[in-house]
Amino acid sequence: MKIGIAGLGYVGLPLAVAFAEAGHEVVGLDVDPRKVERINAGRSHVEDVPDAALAPLAGRLRATAAYADLASCEAVVICVPTPLTGSREPDLTYLLDSATALSQILQPGQLVVLESTTYPGTTRERLVPILEQSGLSAGTDFHVAFSPERIDPGRTDYTVRTTPKLVGGLTAACAERARELYALICDEVVVLSTPETAELSKLLENIFRSVNIALVNELAQLCDRLGIDVWEVVDAAATKPFGFMRFEPGPGMGGHCLPVDPFYLAFKAREHDFYPEFIELAGKVNQTQPAFCVERIERALNEAGKPVNGSRILVLGVSYKAGIGDTRESPSLKIVRRLVELGGAISYHDPHVPSLPDLGLASVELGPALESADAVAIVTAHPGVDYADVVARAALTIDFRGVTRGIESPSLIRL
Ligand SMILES: NC(=O)c1ccc[n+]([C@@H]2O[C@H](COP(=O)([O-])OP(=O)(O)OC[C@H]3O[C@@H](n4cnc5c(N)ncnc54)[C@H](O)[C@@H]3O)[C@@H](O)[C@H]2O)c1
Repeated sequence: MKIGIAGLGYVGLPLAVAFAEAGHEVVGLDVDPRKVERINAGRSHVEDVPDAALAPLAGRLRATAAYADLASCEAVVICVPTPLTGSREPDLTYLLDSATALSQILQPGQLVVLESTTYPGTTRERLVPILEQSGLSAGTDFHVAFSPERIDPGRTDYTVRTTPKLVGGLTAACAERARELYALICDEVVVLSTPETAELSKLLENIFRSVNIALVNELAQLCDRLGIDVWEVVDAAATKPFGFMRFEPGPGMGGHCLPVDPFYLAFKAREHDFYPEFIELAGKVNQTQPAFCVERIERALNEAGKPVNGSRILVLGVSYKAGIGDTRESPSLKIVRRLVELGGAISYHDPHVPSLPDLGLASVELGPALESADAVAIVTAHPGVDYADVVARAALTIDFRGVTRGIESPSLIRL
């Protein structure tokens, strides 16, 4: 098959690679000419796709910035960003721009699949009308489906092939076309009755995580008051072989999905005079977690007779999760910003994030920085760091990720 992918980011590039590795011809499109140039030169900008994976695909995977190059594809998959506006409402600009450009080149018989996470109704109410500006009718002249991306950056135990793929078509024929497309690269494709079901399933998956993370984060705050070790509590509950699923407390929620998706659903719910309070409460608890962490650092320094103002604080890890360099919505950045506002002399170490230009900071070498810091805060626990050594060398360590469990030291504080 000849397959087009619009948007070559964390989602689109691995998908393009998966189709090309399965032997199909792939046209990857991005509006960012630097990404197009890099990919065509065999260089990946996505950590999950090593350059070595692009090299053997040179003849089959081609990047372009011209939508006209998608006209010859049998299927086009849209993987553009769906962020929030400044006032925390869904920002569909990228999606609508992509749909408008596609409508100008759409061909009879093509399949268009939306993968970007969004609220239920987007495919039918927003995407289809724009595509139909082509003069073609959805469901008859061309096919449309929604299929949520379930990628978990940095994860290696589940791949595109082994993660079941959901598809919801505008019509039964649309769903069948989408099923055939994904069967090329996925072992299991689950066909749902409508695009709306597929859109909402994705939001449920993410909101499920958000709610459960909020629950353990709230518990961590309570444990701090009660003087109980929250990690021991979670470990203990997780010994139950049924009816409990383990979630880890931490500094808050980050990334492109979990902090964003609940707002997409809340927006749609409001249109129907419905207020999903449970979901919004989870978002609120998780958003306040970085402030709790700052307060915990302040308290720890205070106990050592030092104010934040003027203290040298080394933050370990600024990306939103371990093992990757994505800093979008990272709670660590919120903690760094607040500590800077409070007058702290902040430095950070992160092997995945060489610099933070907005904050005028660059990752420092771990060894010397550990010894000169008044406090070290473990915010994102990347693998490869010797945390026992961190505790041994730092004057004060505050661990928000539980990676120092099992270590006893008077200079160690855990969430
Ligand atoms: N990153 C994840 O882990 C993840 C997981 C599941 C779902 N998603 C969803 O997938 C979608 C894409 O996320 P991402 O993380 O890949 O984003 P990204 O920012 O990494 O990549 C999106 C790409 O789309 C390009 N783009 C923007 N406007 C475009 C246009 N009009 N036409 C063509 N290309 C355009 C951008 O230049 C960028 O390269 C979002 O809806 C996101 O919520 C992301």
